[in-house]
Amino acid sequence: MSIGVCYFPEHWPRERWATDVEQMAEAGIEYVRMGEFSWSRLEPRPGELDFEWLETAVDLVHEHGMEAVLCTPTATPPKWLVDEHPDILQEEPDGDARHFGSRRHYCFNSESYREQTDRIITVLAEHFADHPAVVGWQTDNEYGCHDTIRCYCDDCATAFRTWLREKYGGIDELNESWGTTFWSQHHTDFEEIDPPRHTVTDHHPGRLLDYHRFANESVVSYNRSQADRLREANDDWFVTHNFMFDFGQLDPYDVGDDLDFAAWDSYPTGFPQVAGDDPADADELRVGNPDQIGFNHDRYRCAAPGNFWVMEQQPGSINWPPETTQPAEGAMRLWAHHAVAHGADVVSYFRWRRCLEGQEQYHAGLRKRDGTADRGYHDATTAAAELADLDRGSVSAPVALVLDYESLWALNEQAMSPDFDYWSHLHTYYHALRGRGVQVDILPTDADFEDYDAVLAPSLHLVGDEVVSTFRRYVESGGHLLFTIRSGEKDPHNKLHATRPPGPLADLAGVRVDQHESVPADSSDARLSYRGERYGYRTWAEWIDADDAKMVGQYATGICEGRTAITVREAEPGSVAYVGIWPDDDLADALVSDVLTRANVTHASDPLPDRVRVAHRGDLTWVFNYGSEPIDVDVGDADVRLGEETVPGYDLLVIEGTPTDVAVER
Ligand code: GAL
Repeated sequence: MSIGVCYFPEHWPRERWATDVEQMAEAGIEYVRMGEFSWSRLEPRPGELDFEWLETAVDLVHEHGMEAVLCTPTATPPKWLVDEHPDILQEEPDGDARHFGSRRHYCFNSESYREQTDRIITVLAEHFADHPAVVGWQTDNEYGCHDTIRCYCDDCATAFRTWLREKYGGIDELNESWGTTFWSQHHTDFEEIDPPRHTVTDHHPGRLLDYHRFANESVVSYNRSQADRLREANDDWFVTHNFMFDFGQLDPYDVGDDLDFAAWDSYPTGFPQVAGDDPADADELRVGNPDQIGFNHDRYRCAAPGNFWVMEQQPGSINWPPETTQPAEGAMRLWAHHAVAHGADVVSYFRWRRCLEGQEQYHAGLRKRDGTADRGYHDATTAAAELADLDRGSVSAPVALVLDYESLWALNEQAMSPDFDYWSHLHTYYHALRGRGVQVDILPTDADFEDYDAVLAPSLHLVGDEVVSTFRRYVESGGHLLFTIRSGEKDPHNKLHATRPPGPLADLAGVRVDQHESVPADSSDARLSYRGERYGYRTWAEWIDADDAKMVGQYATGICEGRTAITVREAEPGSVAYVGIWPDDDLADALVSDVLTRANVTHASDPLPDRVRVAHRGDLTWVFNYGSEPIDVDVGDADVRLGEETVPGYDLLVIEGTPTDVAVER
């Protein structure tokens, strides 16, 4: 379990590099990531290659006993390249180009950019192929950052038509699949079809969904060609990519097929501010929200074969959220432990030193602008020493949460409520599971669910035959399943099933939805009774006919009073729950603890406080306190490996053993 850092030697005088690298080694850093965004320094003019500076930096890293991770420099095509090939620029839906002057301005379907990418990566990879310090590569940087997965240029139009031809074979099949009779959207030839450019009102859902799939696949294939070039030069290198927090336009499970492991970039004080939730509270502005962080650790752990890395860990205050608060004392250490507890092999801080120039001058580093140690440096040093002493085990989870990108793409385009958001619906259930101290794997629909005691599949909107047979098999073999609102409503072409929702899942769940409505945020009378208790719900409600399932939740107020809201179908030895509302947190907790009980999954007898979380890895259990007040933990017979049983605010405890319950005294 190691610590790394992102270093940009090209931002500093050469005379300084040896000092920097020495200080990294002193801090206990093992991995140094370099080369990102450096194309104009690696090739200042067309064909004029200069790798000497990077090699010198890699040599220094090697001399100090550390390893180097290099990045392909493709997130920032230099100005000369843009001028030579203006067709590489991305275009907005209204046809405006996204010009040179920041980053990520290239189109994934530009033939010339793909050629240039192959060329620079091949020479770079060959140059470093035998360097003993280089252990692996990060492809590009944060595909999709600044809303750049979907481009609307002519190259994308051509590639989209080819993609559609391959998918449908004939135009009649496309018309039939999308349903183009509506509003006279019938096509006579693939050549007529453009990307969903600026138009009068909403685009056709069939076309939109295919465009989102096409854009996703364009990035997957672009990344694959980067990975291929790197592996051609040295097959022992690892190849990874640094993904983003809760980002929905790119499916990391698809990209993950070409990676050795996934990595992601964790900026906890920024996330709550951009997630669209309530305004961040005081604790969130200091340390973030433990479930937002944990959710992303868990999904990226599951996105590729190996354990994951945090490639960029927030080092102090950051420049991009509305509030650029200072993290709490010790926060940068807390985050490193949190990542490792969820399975990270390496936590790498972004960046080594605050940069004097460019767009990110207001972003902290581990070192201050004058080179002296900043708050994050002390935390990183502490974390490095502590983590070096903790054994590496694996993470295992009894419960799977299904994350389906195609459902996300379809639902978020037809949200039918200002508050409906696929991510936050998933987070409601993740929060409840983690609140009961349960480990979670976050998986796509084609995963193997056999070994999970329970599977939660919230808002599994697009359902075709394969999904139905996957879950039927799962339940028949004794699995416990939970579906929620808007599941099974549509087919994989984004058209409604002709049968009532949950469509082809109706037999499995034993229910059919009669009506649905959105529930405005201020509806204080949205109440129901669940197993004899009163609870609130929000955003969405379905009136259910429980054909072959037991009603366990019933609307208690309003137009739907007396109708069924929640059901369970006993399918001995398995079960299938259907939740026809978006539950408030206490109801989500009750629903989740009931499914855990049915599935015999060990869980905390009471929900943990929202800002206290536990995570198990190998023989170790971490208890995290993301609140400012101390908590008391009853560790039973377990040995304390790090910290105290009274865990101060924003601190942690590590114990050896896997106690069945961690009693937190509030
Ligand atoms: C990340 C990005 C970095 C840097 C950082 C600032 O999203 O990968 O290059 O911009 O944010 O927090």
